[in-house]
Amino acid sequence: MSSSAPRLSDAELLARMQSFHWWHSIALRPGLTTFGGKTELILAQEEQALLAPFNLVGRSVIDVGAWNGFFSFAAKRRGAARVLATDSYIWNHPVWRGREAFELARGELGLDIEALMVDPPDITEALGQFDVVMFLGVFYHLYDPIDVMTRLRSITRQMLLVETHSDLTGDARPGMVFYPGAILNQDATNWWGPNPAAMLHLFLQLGFTRIFYRDHPTLGRTRGIYAAFTPEVEDDLVLRFDEHWQDLDVPGAIEGLLSP
Ligand SMILES: C[S@@+](CC[C@H](N)C(=O)[O-])C[C@H]1O[C@@H](n2cnc3c(N)ncnc32)[C@H](O)[C@@H]1O
Repeated sequence: MSSSAPRLSDAELLARMQSFHWWHSIALRPGLTTFGGKTELILAQEEQALLAPFNLVGRSVIDVGAWNGFFSFAAKRRGAARVLATDSYIWNHPVWRGREAFELARGELGLDIEALMVDPPDITEALGQFDVVMFLGVFYHLYDPIDVMTRLRSITRQMLLVETHSDLTGDARPGMVFYPGAILNQDATNWWGPNPAAMLHLFLQLGFTRIFYRDHPTLGRTRGIYAAFTPEVEDDLVLRFDEHWQDLDVPGAIEGLLSP
């Protein structure tokens, strides 16, 4: 809780929570959890899949497209020394008012998290370097995701963690589907669906040298999770990849992912 703001009563906090549309369900106080499109259970499974393999203690983390901040908060609670939450589209959205909701959650949780309004296409290396770059649920929203991935490479010291909608997963050739209009989930902000082969070769093209993949914990092969490492990765960043993860940069890995 920010030291300057008076502490809200439970009733006042509930009223503030109810004044926003939430994407993340975040427990702010006992019995007071935000009403997110993503449930607490789904988020717990996503956090386990996305963050449990890594040792974030003492590391710097940027969350690109943080929305309400669930994964920024999770990284801080997992020991990250510095966490920078960034967003633009949803933070500036007049209906979703994502920045205000993020600020309410950040203030209530009392976590030392930095925030910066920046659109992914405007990210440059002037932002500095981060041990871990989280890019979760954003790739497919971008008209030019390859340009943004190039920008993210320039700020990644050790690992770029990407979660994205996938398509063409039965094809070993690198490919992405383009969704004009609102044909993907009736959402005009959805543009692209890459397959694992496309992501693998994009990461390699950008100078990442090791790439690991797993399916989404609840949505399966329709979404992919990628951990891409720079040559500078420290040995102790990875705690353990469980059986859900596979090494993607070895011969036959892509073929092994194809549906029978
Ligand atoms: C599905 S949410 C993902 C939020 C969070 N990272 C997570 O994984 O739960 C999509 C995020 O992408 C961001 N975004 C960035 N550029 C966008 C764009 N051009 N259109 C829509 N969303 C965009 C939104 O602001 C939002 O935070």
